[in-house]
Amino acid sequence: MLVLGIETSCDETAAAVLSSDKCILSNIVLSQIEEHQPYGGVVPEIAARSHLDHIDRIIKEAMSEAGVTFSQLDGIAVTSGPGLIGGVLVGVMSAKAIAMAHNLPFIAVNHLEGHALTARLSEKISFPYLLLLVSGGHCQLLAVEGIGKYSLYGKTRDDAVGEAFDKSAKMLGIPYPGGPNLEIEAAKGNPDRFPLPRPMFGKPHCDFSFSGLKTAVRVSVEKLPDGPLNVADRADLAASFQHAAADVLADRCKQAITRFKQDYGENRTLVVGGGVASNKHIRATLTNLCETQGMKFAAPPIHLCTDNAAMIAWAGLERLKLGLTDSLDTAARPRWPLESLKE
Ligand code: KG4
Ligand code: ZN
Repeated sequence: MLVLGIETSCDETAAAVLSSDKCILSNIVLSQIEEHQPYGGVVPEIAARSHLDHIDRIIKEAMSEAGVTFSQLDGIAVTSGPGLIGGVLVGVMSAKAIAMAHNLPFIAVNHLEGHALTARLSEKISFPYLLLLVSGGHCQLLAVEGIGKYSLYGKTRDDAVGEAFDKSAKMLGIPYPGGPNLEIEAAKGNPDRFPLPRPMFGKPHCDFSFSGLKTAVRVSVEKLPDGPLNVADRADLAASFQHAAADVLADRCKQAITRFKQDYGENRTLVVGGGVASNKHIRATLTNLCETQGMKFAAPPIHLCTDNAAMIAWAGLERLKLGLTDSLDTAARPRWPLESLKE
């Protein structure tokens, strides 16, 4: 089976072709970093227009690199939400046009399900597993029982962890994209210099909170001399923030692991997915946690953590194999919680 995947829900225009034997035949990702950089974050209108300008070329590139024609495909999978609706619409309309013209099955993929299933593309992981989903817009812990079967254990009560990375980066004068650039700064710094809070640490539930940590970063910056931060202050504060965020994620996972073991028994896997899963310190912290908790740990390769279309093609393939296709009047959705897929 061959599936074309399309992703346009945020600031990456992406297309990929994947075969059912897990071979990524092409995986083209066009990032809009330069277009959003002057504004310090993603501007939805600019993102939508840029997707429109590039989507046809990116799809053509993915098809020619894979060496396949539309008639050889078995389905078209596209992110149909959640995300910035202007961008989502561009991808959905392109996918529908191809599906209609070539009479192919259409699969409306939930972007979060793309992140949730990516680890099954890179490794052999069976259901059920515990999922930590950490991206720019989402921060949640879920039990994954199967395709479309998600039970929410906990989520953030304010900012997503990726958002906290991005906003802290901005306060430290680290350029967009904040998360990956903050990780580079943090590698040069002393994580013990600034004693930052660990919100929700030890609480007997699986929810998160990051706004207090973000405020503490701001207060720490304000206590330093006026003007741009010096190199050491920036690196030390970045490292202190990254360690605090990782400690919080690990502590919340620890709570979730206890609950997950009660629900599904021992010898299971903690999977991490989403853009923040590409952070090496967070991956190492979660690896250590799993060792102490008797859980296996899985994370997709770094280039498949941030938004891409291979993960959408994979989620599409998983759905197609179960006969889960969608009609061409399926709507694009700005919000679409994972746990609602069960209904
Ligand atoms: O999954 P993703 O690419 O897009 C969304 O679905 O939101 O995640 C993007 C988020 C951004 O907040 C970005 O700063 C963060 O993931 N991120 C990172 C790293 N790479 C991306 N955060 C920390 N460390 C990284 N290396
Ligand atoms: Zn994403």
